[in-house]
Amino acid sequence: MTSEFATDPQSLVAAASADFALCKDAVALANCKAQYLGREGQLTALLKQLGKLDPQAKAEAGKALNLAKQAIEAALNQREAQLAQAELDARLADEAIDVTLPGRNSSRGGLHPITLTIERIEAIFRSIGFAVADGPEIEEDFFNFTALNTPENHPARSMHDTFYVDLQDDKGLPMLLRTHTSPMQIRYARQHPPPIKVIAPGKTYRVDSDATHSPMFHQFEGMWIDEAISFADLKSVYTDFLRRFFETDALDVRFRPSYFPFTEPSAEIDMRFATGPLAGRWLEVSGSGQVHPQVVRNIGLDPERYIGFAFGSGVERLAMLRYGVGDLRQFYDNDLRFLQQFKR
Ligand code: FA5
Ligand code: MG
Repeated sequence: MTSEFATDPQSLVAAASADFALCKDAVALANCKAQYLGREGQLTALLKQLGKLDPQAKAEAGKALNLAKQAIEAALNQREAQLAQAELDARLADEAIDVTLPGRNSSRGGLHPITLTIERIEAIFRSIGFAVADGPEIEEDFFNFTALNTPENHPARSMHDTFYVDLQDDKGLPMLLRTHTSPMQIRYARQHPPPIKVIAPGKTYRVDSDATHSPMFHQFEGMWIDEAISFADLKSVYTDFLRRFFETDALDVRFRPSYFPFTEPSAEIDMRFATGPLAGRWLEVSGSGQVHPQVVRNIGLDPERYIGFAFGSGVERLAMLRYGVGDLRQFYDNDLRFLQQFKR
């Protein structure tokens, strides 16, 4: 039916389909398409010949060419869809996620040994009815010294080599980094009526640096004031605390007479293990005493009626003893090999 043309439209469709099938990507296919349907394309060439035919033949040939064109376009669309699908399959295969592979571990951090120690101290004291309080590290001269019965020219101020900061309180005195947690005795007791039963852990600062002293360290203050809290209560509470903290009764506790302006009488608390590698050596862990009547007055209470004890202990010292750490500065070197040992 198409004998009018040099090339049979049917064979052109077959050739085009075969060529399209050989195209490996969209660019090759576009070139191929031009060879048949483009301005210089083979089908276009046949269409141009239509004009030379007589009307009868022209109508028939036109129909045949139209069908051929539709068939070539259909073959082209089919190949286009095939290539798109193949590309999608390749990408899916490439980006496939194997959900059965083990995940990448993001390593979880752990709490610092000093934080763990403070949590342990808080838990023990909470269990016997102590509240836990928190106070400022940049402190007023009044709370750090004066209210604790250590007026401006008192020689006991030289027991603490102090960091002053470039700020003034409302009396024009320089602010300082608190040298102990004892200011919390005043701050807490002024806010809470007796019975006052509290510990206050936190950071403290002194110009100190050696294997058992660091310029920033932690203390926890303890205070129990009521109508009849005695030195005997201090001894039993603190001894019981140490035995629970170290999970052993095999330790001795000694209250060694000492001096603090804000307690009377005053004592350093020393302890020693009965067994283990540190056995036999006395180690100071805390200062303590009966709260001085002048401090009770500074709080705003009547010292004839209210009495009690206070202590201020070093957290690093207790952590060193519990974990067998020889040099306090290791806690602050940020060496992961050291810190990771405390990960729970
Ligand atoms: C005081 O700081 C008193 N405020 C304690 C106190 C409180 C007495 C309440 C009476 C009543 P002292 O300077 O001794 O006392 O310090 C207490 C503890 O803090 C020491 O026993 C020690 O364990 C620890 N400590 C002191 N200086 C440092 C330091 N530079 N580095 C690490 N720990 C320290
Ligand atoms: Mg001391």
